[in-house]
Amino acid sequence: MDPRALKKDFPIFEAHPELVFLDSAASSQKPRSVIHALARFYESAYANVHRSSYRLSEAATEAYEAARETLARFLGAQDPREVVFVRNATEGVNLLAHALGGRVGPGDTILVTEMEHHANLVPWQQLAVHTGARIRAVPVTEEGRLDLSAFDQLLAEGPKIVALAHMSNVLGTINPVAEMAKKAKEAGAIVVVDGAQAAPHLPVNVAELGADFYVTSGHKMLGPTGASALWGRLALWRELPPFLTGGGMIERVELEASTFTEPPARFEAGTPPFAEAVALAEAARYLEAVGRDAVLAHDQALTRRALEGLKTIPDLEVFGPEGPDRGGVVSFAFPGLHAHDLATFLAEKQIAVRAGHHCAQPLHQKLGVPATTRASFYLYNTEEDVDRLVEAVAEARRFFKDWIA
Ligand SMILES: Cc1ncc(COP(=O)(O)O)c(C=O)c1O
Repeated sequence: MDPRALKKDFPIFEAHPELVFLDSAASSQKPRSVIHALARFYESAYANVHRSSYRLSEAATEAYEAARETLARFLGAQDPREVVFVRNATEGVNLLAHALGGRVGPGDTILVTEMEHHANLVPWQQLAVHTGARIRAVPVTEEGRLDLSAFDQLLAEGPKIVALAHMSNVLGTINPVAEMAKKAKEAGAIVVVDGAQAAPHLPVNVAELGADFYVTSGHKMLGPTGASALWGRLALWRELPPFLTGGGMIERVELEASTFTEPPARFEAGTPPFAEAVALAEAARYLEAVGRDAVLAHDQALTRRALEGLKTIPDLEVFGPEGPDRGGVVSFAFPGLHAHDLATFLAEKQIAVRAGHHCAQPLHQKLGVPATTRASFYLYNTEEDVDRLVEAVAEARRFFKDWIA
């Protein structure tokens, strides 16, 4: 995999040749093929789907359903009907927290982890508020991994739902989801995996992972904003009530009651993001063509280089584990210096990183810092990008030395 060659596929780097883009964990850049797929669809293939019998509409429906098949293959799903298109990962978790609501009652446990993004935490808290259930969390260890013996103990409480990230958006930790899902299923839980950070960067096969639902974020995996694939077991989808209701998801409507259609349409009320889904399928094909093992190996090589370099900088605290269970996300902090000041210093050198709590406030509390600066890598990043980051952070230390505690 040659990141320099791949970078040429991304027009943003022609528009901003000086840009060192290290913020793909927030949202990735888009290859030309994805941008063109979206434009082509709007220019020559656009009509609403699943509604009309004229040719253009039928062709749009076929393209939308073909996109579902592509995303099913991309995730290793058995059947395209297992893939529901939602706007983003956040909507995916909200859909599940709502649809699974009937399975949770007063005193029940919903098990999450301390490293969850708010998207995979707040919807479960809301479900707990509405049902009288309680939230329990698997602790994160000093090295930034999940404490698996605590997980085993928490499973003994018989949680109804286990919701966990496949890869942390702060620590880069790749969690042992297959092992954890197996145990959670044996304990009788429904297992929801937040794959927002994993699906863009690792080979994902839901059949092998063994969970019940797998949430992705299309805009983080080279796709446009507005369309993401949410996978679930067909048998479970069939049992669940809808989240949003209205057109497109009904079987029969009378003035006082309605019945709902089969999945996936039951969970896609209103006009779905079909043009975006078609472009997302193009993104999935792009990642498949590059090779997802190659993307992971590349991210991990850049991460090792970044960790080696950052560790030589005095006072800098670098978070997350080291080893094969670490993806391309590196968060760090200087004691006494606000993460935003560091990010602004880097921005002046055209290095784009994110600063803040990264929608993971409980994790930052655990780490004992209010905020971190985060660099995240993807297939268009090069070793020079990493070296520029490390040099600039070292320079920031010299510049801010009076602030650093
Ligand atoms: C682990 C994780 N889950 C969920 C989300 C939310 O993704 P989306 O923007 O698609 O709603 C993010 C986004 O940063 C994330 O990193």
